[in-house]
Amino acid sequence: MLENYISKTSKSKALYERAKNFLPAGVSYAIRYFEPYPFYTAKAKGSKLIDVNGNEYVDFWLGHTALILGHSPPAVMDAVKKQIEIGTHFGTSHELEIELAEQIAKMVPSAEMIRFTNSGTEANMYAVRLARACTGRNKIVKFEGGWHGGYDSLHVGVKYPFDVPESAGLTAGALQDTIVAPFNDLEGVREKVRNEAVAAIVVEPMLGAGGCIPAEKEFLKGLRELCDEKSILLIFDEVVTGFRLAPGGGQQYYGVIPDLTVFGKILGGGFPIGAFCGRQDVMERLNTLVYERPHYSFHGGTFSANPISMTAGLATLKLLEDGQLISRMNRTGEKIRGQIKEIFEADDVDVQVTGVGSLFSAHFTVEEVKDTRAVFRADRKKLAEYHLNLIANGVFFSPTHMGALSTAHSEADIQKLLSETEKYANLCGK
Ligand SMILES: Cc1ncc(COP(=O)(O)O)c(C=O)c1O
Repeated sequence: MLENYISKTSKSKALYERAKNFLPAGVSYAIRYFEPYPFYTAKAKGSKLIDVNGNEYVDFWLGHTALILGHSPPAVMDAVKKQIEIGTHFGTSHELEIELAEQIAKMVPSAEMIRFTNSGTEANMYAVRLARACTGRNKIVKFEGGWHGGYDSLHVGVKYPFDVPESAGLTAGALQDTIVAPFNDLEGVREKVRNEAVAAIVVEPMLGAGGCIPAEKEFLKGLRELCDEKSILLIFDEVVTGFRLAPGGGQQYYGVIPDLTVFGKILGGGFPIGAFCGRQDVMERLNTLVYERPHYSFHGGTFSANPISMTAGLATLKLLEDGQLISRMNRTGEKIRGQIKEIFEADDVDVQVTGVGSLFSAHFTVEEVKDTRAVFRADRKKLAEYHLNLIANGVFFSPTHMGALSTAHSEADIQKLLSETEKYANLCGK
């Protein structure tokens, strides 16, 4: 399988050798590296990536799950082309930022007021700061396996074993106010916060990088109740689930409304973005006309609300708003999860297929996968092998192993995924 990949990707190998000289590990984000070297994309359209050797891949990674309409969707591209002529970066107030904020408020149950950032990381950072400013408390709770970007206070407890620092350079000071709690375990969370003054609980409605593991509805409801009891702010990190599980994201899908919500990815329509939003009384802490230093909570950024991301995001949300495309993708997601499980089971391969809506992943284990600990107990070598096998045969999954659907995926794309899965299952069957 490795030989097959290497024989098809000679130009990528040469580019990788060049990249290593100037980009540490040859990449711009560690998760983009995979053995023996990543292929280099020359262009992308719809559901496909084409590499520099001309190989075509059905793309189930979709730019870190951001591209819900596929690569370069015409409606978004047309809007962006027009905007490029009008202006790419004003650095002043402009109407598009109001339009996108209004659109988010229309679609997302918790979104009364919104601020834009350039990434999900930044949006989480500002949301945590805002929660601390509003509550006057320092502690925050996040979950084992939860990934919220590289902001120091949230960059803990991501990979198992959870007590190993996620990165050098994180100070004890940055982490001392972060409590890491078990996912899908309400009693465990209650135990962790029993004697603590907590500003916010930050949770993904579905652990994305942590294994594509949905929160149980009762867990999210329980977190809501716990937050209400203790006047803690509940923050949903919907960078992956936002505008994907439902037009109003995971909160609409599960019927649990947070105080603050963080977005990224899909919201930018293929361009860089992040946003945090929520209850008006909480968001008002950002209002420098009402609060003075040291009482206001700062947020800003040179490219915040840049008109290209606003335009692309607006065109994207308008297409998702009525929920029809999302429902269709969710049905396909359900079908894929069932079929992948069936395929492996037909060959006696122990597998758990996780995910929700249009997101899916596989874990080679007999154990039910309800948290990231189970993901790390599963056969992760086999998962990497399965996906490398898919890549070598023209189906792309990133090393995070999460698959995402877009409106651009055709029935033939799905069949390709399933038939390549079947070939791999036959290879590794008992
Ligand atoms: C749930 C979640 N939150 C936050 C982030 C960070 O977003 P960004 O990479 O845009 O900084 C990610 C990125 O993958 C994510 O999956």
